[in-house]
Amino acid sequence: TRPLRIGMIGAGTVGGGVYEIIMNRLGGGKSGDASSSTSSRGSISTPTPIITKICVRDPSKPRNFHVDPNMTKIVTDTSSITSDPNIDLVVEVAGGVTFAKDAVYDSIRNGKSVVTANKALIAENMEELIGMIGIANGEGGESNSASCGRRGGGGVRFGYEASVCGGIPVIHALQSCYAGDIINEVMGICNGTTNYMLGKMEDGEDYDSVLREAQELGFAESDPSADVEGYDVRAKISILAKLAFGVSVPIESVPCMGITNISVVDFQYAKSMGCTIKLVGTAVRKSRYGEHDGALSVYVSPKLVPNGHLLASAIGCGNAVSINSANLGLASFGGAGAGRYPTANSVVADIMRVANGTCPTAPFPPVPSSSSFVDDIDSDY
Ligand code: HSE
Repeated sequence: TRPLRIGMIGAGTVGGGVYEIIMNRLGGGKSGDASSSTSSRGSISTPTPIITKICVRDPSKPRNFHVDPNMTKIVTDTSSITSDPNIDLVVEVAGGVTFAKDAVYDSIRNGKSVVTANKALIAENMEELIGMIGIANGEGGESNSASCGRRGGGGVRFGYEASVCGGIPVIHALQSCYAGDIINEVMGICNGTTNYMLGKMEDGEDYDSVLREAQELGFAESDPSADVEGYDVRAKISILAKLAFGVSVPIESVPCMGITNISVVDFQYAKSMGCTIKLVGTAVRKSRYGEHDGALSVYVSPKLVPNGHLLASAIGCGNAVSINSANLGLASFGGAGAGRYPTANSVVADIMRVANGTCPTAPFPPVPSSSSFVDDIDSDY
């Protein structure tokens, strides 16, 4: 079986982890003759993933992982990946919504599968992205995608597990485990930076010093206002809302309050009520007199969370998501929401799903029938 050839865009914290796992731990770097390689994991027919190209802005920048020049070529233009007929899958771990967006779009148009960790790109362009993947897969007519890059079962596959809550497999859970269920509420602590900061502030540290600490830990966005103002959570809860309810929520319509006004004294009040304070993204079917009234509320805000609540268990940079549904009831998913190896693990899991053909070609649920939601979004929070 020919390997699954990957072009990776970005080689930062997450990209370095992806490279190490794919090339060192999973044997991609030892796959040798491309025409005879087989996977060391799974069935014999699953192609081994290998990273053949990495696109970086500055090739002279020192990196804290070793790139094998015999296996992987460093390039500086995304088109040498997105237009390369020998590349099957593009892994985008550069972030941002400018050149990363162009690269993801070009890849889809060229018939390549994509795995991305880019929450802002997905949340801001949800409907366009869905349309583009649909067209590339021949939905509503002929596929417009080029014939290159069709490893791992055919079709343009799109994996984005790493875009929400880093290492926690919440997207996969929502795509797979609630097929026969009705989700009523999703609440998520989806930002490790602010969760770390709030935990430290609860112990009496002041806002400015904990923000510096969080930045030093390397989890913060390049512009930390995306963390502390709640914009990062807003993008993530919009993606979770789409998965849970089918509704594409324009992020600009999501009321969003971050943690910039929280101070140490707020924790004293919270403690007196047996609570802690968490920055929570919420997507909930609204109900009136116990009946769902058809509207959906999506918002981001600091919340008082009772100490015994599932969400209170997210400590440090950890993330947690609770999902309340008709059949399963309350379930929670917790773990590392950021960081090199946890996030890379989600990217690699998607890569393996592309390789074995289980990564979806329709990665987002369809919009529900008009009877499911009235006016889809309520913004009166
Ligand atoms: N800045 C984000 C966080 C990174 O702190 O959770 C992961 O998306």
